Amino acid sequence: MNIITSIAEMKKISKDLKKSSRQVSFIPTMGKLHDGHLNLIEEGKKYGEVIVSIFVNPAQFGPDEDFDNYPRDFENDVKTLKDLNIGYLFHPPADIIKNTATYLINPEYSNRLEGIFRPTHFQGVLTIVMKLFCIINPDFALFGLKDYQQYILIKKMVEDYFLDARVIPVPTVREKCGLAMSSRNAYLDEKDKKIACNFYQSLKKTADLFKAGEISGEKLTVSAIKELIKSGFKIDYAKIMDQGLNTEKRTVDSGDILLAAARFKGVRLIDNIFFE
Ligand code: PAF
Repeated sequence: MNIITSIAEMKKISKDLKKSSRQVSFIPTMGKLHDGHLNLIEEGKKYGEVIVSIFVNPAQFGPDEDFDNYPRDFENDVKTLKDLNIGYLFHPPADIIKNTATYLINPEYSNRLEGIFRPTHFQGVLTIVMKLFCIINPDFALFGLKDYQQYILIKKMVEDYFLDARVIPVPTVREKCGLAMSSRNAYLDEKDKKIACNFYQSLKKTADLFKAGEISGEKLTVSAIKELIKSGFKIDYAKIMDQGLNTEKRTVDSGDILLAAARFKGVRLIDNIFFE
């Protein structure tokens, strides 16, 4: 596997791959790879030559967030990617974002849900993803649906700037108990993980209520909130929105989505579920 640490070299490799008519399938990550990432990579292989990036992007962490402690395991990630026969790992230098003079912002969509609790998060995400896209110019880029608002914003960015990449959403990979795979789960010990499983189970109970005929957005949201509180979560938000994240739903339809963020033992979890 080629580990590329130079922006110029990464640009050249990607250009050459495309010249040799290979389609480039890109999976950006912050490392500490888990089964969710591996699923993105396996999906990515269906679309073309896979390039994975690992970069813990300081610009998407707020001043009181966990940038310094964010789980990192570069050596093990390299081994995992080698085992998966990945040809290219891009591990950019800090310069990729340091001293950036212009940031991408999207006040309309980033000032809701996650954006309210992490006000500079999406400007950091959009800016790093745009930079990575400018370097790699992928044909396809794969993103997990656990970070649904991130997926929607990146799709909008690609449309707004006429980028070549096709953004492919990939369903969330879960532990057996339903807990969404996340690098931050590494903060939880086995006992706490078991309790954290109730996060998704609470969302699922709400989705089941919809299946049983409840369509009031307010009643479904209150039920989700009650379930989450009962399991000991401190809720940042629980909201039912349309798929485009444009409006909060008063009357819920199939295809709408319940999104929630909550803290448990100081660990912030986010997840979502579609109403079917
Ligand atoms: O989803 C993530 O891991 C990050 O937000 C991303 C897309 C790699 C940008 O740093």
